Amino acid sequence: MTISVHRLHESLGAEIRGIDLSRPLDDTSFATIATAFLDHQVIVLRGQQLPPERHIALTRRFGNPEIHILEQFHLVGHHEILVLSNRKHADGTPVGLEDAGRYWHTDVSFWPEPSTASLLYSLEVPPEGGDTMFTNQYAAYDALPDELRRQLDGRRLLHGLNRVVAPKFTDEQLARVVPVSHPAFRTHPGTGRKAVFAGAFAMGIEGMTDAAARPILDALYAHCGEDRFRYVHRWRAGDLVMWDNRCVLHHATPFDPAYARHMHRTTVSGGRPI
Ligand SMILES: [Fe+2]
Repeated sequence: MTISVHRLHESLGAEIRGIDLSRPLDDTSFATIATAFLDHQVIVLRGQQLPPERHIALTRRFGNPEIHILEQFHLVGHHEILVLSNRKHADGTPVGLEDAGRYWHTDVSFWPEPSTASLLYSLEVPPEGGDTMFTNQYAAYDALPDELRRQLDGRRLLHGLNRVVAPKFTDEQLARVVPVSHPAFRTHPGTGRKAVFAGAFAMGIEGMTDAAARPILDALYAHCGEDRFRYVHRWRAGDLVMWDNRCVLHHATPFDPAYARHMHRTTVSGGRPI
């Protein structure tokens, strides 16, 4: 089958057709995915059959799979996979992490070495809602208002968690997350381009009081999520979406909980942002 790449939005995102992820990736297919990933930041492959072993093998082509701190939502037998789901076990306990990330964020930026990439595979989706919105943080950097650029140039943001953004963490899990600082503007190691690195886990600015930092962070958050930088992915079952956490923010949207939304996620471990 011929492999082709189709842009999804003027800001970011591309669909790749002609690759069957249920089989081991040949070098041409891998190179197409790797190039499109750097060029388009979010890539989509539709109509895929991706059992856990194949999902993990695909993730390994891009680096080491991470083990998420929420071990209660690991897929049984495959701890590299985090289950995102609103399904319940027979005893009423949740099958996976529900209501994940309904705010702009980049995955696990509260760690010293946040994920480079996330690979999310949909098994069951609601008829409407439950979308994932993505925004291009190269574009957000390029379009920064002068005032924000001046306030944040050379600054480091403090990333952490609280009960508002992490309601499903146990007290012990929350206590393991110690605030960490990352540059407000990071340089992508693969493209050399600068991107804003912020989102809802960015809760402070190093060397600044909370009172001084809050309005700057609020203005940055609003800027980074603007429509003009945004691609909205409307899920179908069988979609594999892979995004670059180094230059993209994402945000889940609500849906009718009468319907199931059930997905498998892996992430690739990354280096320290510079
Ligand atoms: Fe996320």
